Amino acid sequence: MALTVSMKMLILLVSAISLAWGSHGVEGETIISEEEDAELERQLKIINKPAIKVIKTHYGDIYDCVDINKQPAFDHPLLKNHKIQMRPTSFPKGLFDKASSVEEASNVMPSEIGLKNSCPPGSVPIRRTQKEDLIRIKQNPTGFQPLIDSAPGHNFVKNYVNNVPYHGAGAWIAVYNPTVSNGQFSNAVMWIENGDGNNLNSIQVGWTVNHALHGDNRTRLFTYWTVDGYQKTGCFDTRCPGFVQVSTDTALGLVFENTSAIDGTQYITKVVIYQDLSTGNWWLSFTEDNVHIGYWPKSLFTDLATNASYVKWGAEVYTPSGEASPPMGSGRLPSEGANKACFFNGLQVIYDSELTDPSPLLLTRRKIDNPDCYDADEVKHFKVLDYYFFFGGPGGPNCGN
Ligand SMILES: *[C@@H]1O[C@H](CO)[C@@H](O)[C@H](O)[C@H]1NC(C)=O
Ligand SMILES: *[C@@H]1O[C@H](CO)[C@@H](O)[C@H](O)[C@H]1NC(C)=O
Ligand SMILES: *[C@@H]1O[C@H](CO)[C@@H](O)[C@H](O)[C@H]1NC(C)=O
Repeated sequence: MALTVSMKMLILLVSAISLAWGSHGVEGETIISEEEDAELERQLKIINKPAIKVIKTHYGDIYDCVDINKQPAFDHPLLKNHKIQMRPTSFPKGLFDKASSVEEASNVMPSEIGLKNSCPPGSVPIRRTQKEDLIRIKQNPTGFQPLIDSAPGHNFVKNYVNNVPYHGAGAWIAVYNPTVSNGQFSNAVMWIENGDGNNLNSIQVGWTVNHALHGDNRTRLFTYWTVDGYQKTGCFDTRCPGFVQVSTDTALGLVFENTSAIDGTQYITKVVIYQDLSTGNWWLSFTEDNVHIGYWPKSLFTDLATNASYVKWGAEVYTPSGEASPPMGSGRLPSEGANKACFFNGLQVIYDSELTDPSPLLLTRRKIDNPDCYDADEVKHFKVLDYYFFFGGPGGPNCGN
């Protein structure tokens, strides 16, 4: 059996065997036969790599410490002869600068995140795929990949820069925990992109509340990549071969320990994605400690192999038809401002090898698809918050389509 089983193939496999599944399963519980169960077990053996050590989080997630050279990424056909890069060859200038927003604003602080234990040297934490994950894919495939802007039930707000070759970008994002139902999601995202339509290359990072993806309603770190506009390539986190994990203690899909409260502490997190100038790999640096979680190898990409033409910051929500749309951000509109609305701040881009303020063009590049329900301010500049904007909205019954 070939070891290159992608999540897309799994969806096909699961839906093929699902034809026989009874319709008498109640929500959150699907009755499956012994044969179907055996088939799921067989799939899990292929997806999950042998663990040197197992780390269970207090949220019930299981991370397997997998031999760094045998991690799922290397099942990707384009990464067969990939030479692992243990650390970037250089850091962008400014990466380690402290954000004035965290230093100066008394009710703004970083949200804690990370595994309490590290994996042993030579191994990396990879979230274990469990049987319930495969069953949820069958029940709710929409939550398993981002949607194109025009998809029904999907709403978004974005501020963006375009047209210049970029080699990375960063931001601080306020972390909230909007209430979503089982079929919905609500997230805040930074996109690094090149190409469009079926050639869209996209790397995404942010927070998400997505029951289909994670089986709960917590706010988690997420990443996504695609090289064909969400057709056949890419996936969230390490759910298909692609992302190379190098950190031993910070993994994709982890829960943010602290989320913001309206009129309370505003918990934020820092995300930076940048292209290593010598290898062309796209690195993910995360939190104010600049933990280098890992990278997306240059060889995965077509248009993003050399540069990004777009950097976007914003948010997305989704609801299946017939339900009220979920809140975005804190659930408040940006007009409510500080301590009430969710925000991005410290927006920066990398033109060559330095994190710098974005060009003033940014101030006018904005897309809001349903301003009655969700909105984002234009980017503004202020000493404490640097380049920032507020975004969000309550959603509701007439926002879906
Ligand atoms: C999350 O789910 C738990 C358990 O199902 C529930 O008690 C809690 O109210 C939910 N929280 C939110 C913000 O939806
Ligand atoms: C963040 O959450 C963790 C886990 O619940 C808690 O121990 C810690 O005190 C919180 N930090 C702050 C600054 O509130
Ligand atoms: C940036 O990427 C585009 C699309 O792949 C490519 O055509 C262009 O030559 C690249 N520019 C630079 C300066 O690398």
